[in-house]
Amino acid sequence: MAQKQLKWYKLFEDWEEARKKVPLNSTKKVRIGSKKICLAHTKEGFFVVDDECTHMRASLTSGHLNDFNEVICPWHDYRFCLKTGEEKSGKNARPLLTHRIEEKNDSIQLGLYKDEVPPKKDEFSY
Ligand code: FES
Repeated sequence: MAQKQLKWYKLFEDWEEARKKVPLNSTKKVRIGSKKICLAHTKEGFFVVDDECTHMRASLTSGHLNDFNEVICPWHDYRFCLKTGEEKSGKNARPLLTHRIEEKNDSIQLGLYKDEVPPKKDEFSY
């Protein structure tokens, strides 16, 4: 089986800029082409998951974070673990795709698996 390839997108110059643009206990939507990503900053760090709720596709960036490192959907309160993407309120929803955020090449970058990005545009925006 072929190994999935990660593609990296620069989001911030450094962690200081990341903390300034995404303050503690907040989220920000990031677009990579037509793909929408929810970037969350909690006391455990920065996490990136798909923005679209697996229940009925609400934007999780419009939801809120709790003290258990979860993002809560604004529509029906499903709770998703930011580390694993797993739904934690027992509603049996598909888990969210989780992505990587790391310091690479002197900047903060978002890592997406190649086949998870629609091939439309190759850029990001907030
Ligand atoms: S759309 Fe997210 S919980 Fe229903």
